[in-house]
Amino acid sequence: MEIKVVENAASIEADILVVNQFEGEKTSNDLANKYAVDEDNFKGKFGETYLLHTLGNEPYRKILIIGFGKKEEFCPNKLREAVAKAVKKAMQMEAKKVAFVFDGVDFDFSEQFTMGLYIADYKFDKYKSDKKDNHVQEVYIKADEEKIKKAEKIATAMAFARNLSNEPAQFATPNELANIAQDFGLETKIYDKEECEKMGMGAFLAVGQGSINEPKFIHMKYSCDNPKKRIAIIGKGICFDSGGLDIKPASSMITMKDDMSGAACVLGVMSIIKEFNPQVEVHGIIAACENMPGGKSYKPGDILTAKNGKTIEVDNTDAEGRLTLADALCYACELGVDEVIDLATLTGACMVALGTHASGIMGNDEELIHNLIDTAKRNGEKFWELPLWDEYFDSLKSDIADMKNSGSRWGGASAAGVFLKKFVKDVKWAHIDIAGTAFLDKPQKEFISGATGAGVRTLLNYILEQ
Ligand code: BES
Ligand code: MN
Ligand code: ZN
Repeated sequence: MEIKVVENAASIEADILVVNQFEGEKTSNDLANKYAVDEDNFKGKFGETYLLHTLGNEPYRKILIIGFGKKEEFCPNKLREAVAKAVKKAMQMEAKKVAFVFDGVDFDFSEQFTMGLYIADYKFDKYKSDKKDNHVQEVYIKADEEKIKKAEKIATAMAFARNLSNEPAQFATPNELANIAQDFGLETKIYDKEECEKMGMGAFLAVGQGSINEPKFIHMKYSCDNPKKRIAIIGKGICFDSGGLDIKPASSMITMKDDMSGAACVLGVMSIIKEFNPQVEVHGIIAACENMPGGKSYKPGDILTAKNGKTIEVDNTDAEGRLTLADALCYACELGVDEVIDLATLTGACMVALGTHASGIMGNDEELIHNLIDTAKRNGEKFWELPLWDEYFDSLKSDIADMKNSGSRWGGASAAGVFLKKFVKDVKWAHIDIAGTAFLDKPQKEFISGATGAGVRTLLNYILEQ
């Protein structure tokens, strides 16, 4: 897709001209007004659409009016959703050239406009033998070129992450993630199993030991002169979560190729970071492995020793993400960075609490948490703070080790959070549970079903705003 900035998009020979209408107002686009709109069937409610034919009397063949809803409730996030809706309509009609003219919008919509286009235009059809190329090819709009360029990069990183999470586990293996990480032209170190053993990563390695696919610990580094800040981002990289010996029922296992969505987010961010050249040092860290049952699998009751020397009694092999993150957090804290942010499809409990619209966030620094919540909000994601009270550790107490990896069913997202906290030292830290938001069973707002690229928009904007 190519976005072309033009002064007057209505003069372009396009397949469709998209115009907006606020609820209860007439669209002030004169061209659209020339053609009759059945007001009983279109009121400009948010997300409503109305199609007009121009019968060859205009440069464009059709006019799509899109409802923006009540003007006082309109915002950049709604604009993105509305644009996505228009793109989906255009794709259905197999329109290749689409012009947009928005009227009465009193904020700069360049970024969210671009995000809406790209999110809606995404498809994962590489395994379809009958591919239909109904992508929109050219878009015309009057907007800020620089902001469009920035958003295009972020959208590309998001699509990159979505592709990785959508990729079947048979292909998106730990080794494959390691290979991908080495393609970004960043300083990258891949640690194999033996090197991880030497580093004392007993928790991470235990999770991976049941699989024939070897674990890989991935560390990418973007550096710059005089960084204003040094940040480490960690992504949960379970390439497939069968649950291990505490095996999942089929209905829960079916989507578990997505259990590396945190890693996909980190790879998405690192894939584009050089193009932004931010004045921030960014470390991308992934402990990649598969959680599989087998003769070598770790077992309930096993005691593992993490990189920081803490011992963990395995209560449930399906609470594996926190074990891999434990060692990754220890590693990140040793880098001497200012902030550590981890993203993980960590708990079903977080999904039960917040559903598929919001990720859970917790951590040890309120300012960091609130900055991330605010950045998310401005960029179309929802983060909601969950408590990280010490009481949640009660259920993780072990009689024979320093802690267990799971305990009570209740408050599972926070319990996982306090578990992770035991591996965080002398650094500002935030943990984002994307279990509900990373992968959709059915379409939601501008997203088709499947991977959403959760976290990419927020993390990149957060880095760029430092
Ligand atoms: N990967 C899952 C969490 C998950 C669930 C992600 C649903 C996305 C959708 C995680 O490894 C897991 O299995 N968590 C267990 C923890 C429990 C055994 C303490 C869970 O949430 O049930
Ligand atoms: Mn699990
Ligand atoms: Zn998992």
